[in-house]
Amino acid sequence: MLNCPIITLNNGSKIPQFGLGVFRSPVGEETSNAVKWALQAGYRHIDTAMLYHNEQDVARGIKESGVPREEIFITSKLGNPMIEAKKSVEGTLQSLEKLETDYIDLYLLHWPVTNFRDSWETLMRFYEEKKLRAIGVSNFQIRHLEALEKAGLMKPAVNQIELHPTFQQRELKPYCEERDIRIEAWSPLGGADHLLIDRPEIVKIAQKHGKTGAQVIIRWEMQIGNIVIPKSVKKQRIIENADVFDFTLDEEDMAAIAAMDTNQRSYWSPDRWD
Ligand SMILES: NC(=O)c1ccc[n+]([C@@H]2O[C@H](COP(=O)([O-])OP(=O)(O)OC[C@H]3O[C@@H](n4cnc5c(N)ncnc54)[C@H](OP(=O)(O)O)[C@@H]3O)[C@@H](O)[C@H]2O)c1
Repeated sequence: MLNCPIITLNNGSKIPQFGLGVFRSPVGEETSNAVKWALQAGYRHIDTAMLYHNEQDVARGIKESGVPREEIFITSKLGNPMIEAKKSVEGTLQSLEKLETDYIDLYLLHWPVTNFRDSWETLMRFYEEKKLRAIGVSNFQIRHLEALEKAGLMKPAVNQIELHPTFQQRELKPYCEERDIRIEAWSPLGGADHLLIDRPEIVKIAQKHGKTGAQVIIRWEMQIGNIVIPKSVKKQRIIENADVFDFTLDEEDMAAIAAMDTNQRSYWSPDRWD
């Protein structure tokens, strides 16, 4: 097992701070192998979603890894069409079935689309039945979180958002943290289309520590308190990305990465869903 910190969420659930993401991991063997290799390398946290169409491959990878289900923290997400169509009961049951599990450790509303409040109440019911062990949101802006709070509904355990060195979420991150809603960083490395691992600022820090650019960014995410879920389907990179528990970025490194923030998203904005 990795020497990975475990974070306690606001409902008492315990989540490994580091895990494997499987967005754009192709349906089939590539994803099941990635999950299997990750678990065999000591990962204990997998982040999938209904919209990735690979929940069943995650289930297969878990089975093939030989690691007991109860040792693994699985996150999945209710897809937008299900939220919009008020089919959140059906959607959640589908995720449970595809993941071949009686419970999901963390289930998120993927985007704040129309009818998200209705779906949140459904997730709350599954949570009470212990079929969802923790519930949270993704891509929620402050006003979406306020809507849940004003309605007197349960507080999300996490908000999974785009967050990397060039988009550091300086308003939303403290807002969530003040309310004990944990930040999970998606596209931590900048994502497939905007990789940041070869940026000169990152390479310089990597050389100083004898690490790779990916390891520096993953370490930075953890040192600023985020849960981080880098994706790879390549065995060597899966192992490389997990080798981040034996070094620490110093103040100078942290300041250099803080200065990379341009406050520019690389991907979709939650604002367009309004
Ligand atoms: N909630 C949301 O709306 C949302 C949106 C996006 C992502 N996510 C979650 O966040 C996870 C991570 O985000 P992401 O997949 O967009 O981006 P990411 O993890 O920042 O980057 C993934 C890209 O980096 C490459 N890569 C990974 N490790 C590498 C290494 N050590 N050296 C060189 N290249 C490396 C991968 O290629 P290879 O696979 O070829 O190695 C892939 O192209 C997703 O998988 C998903 O679980 C959530």
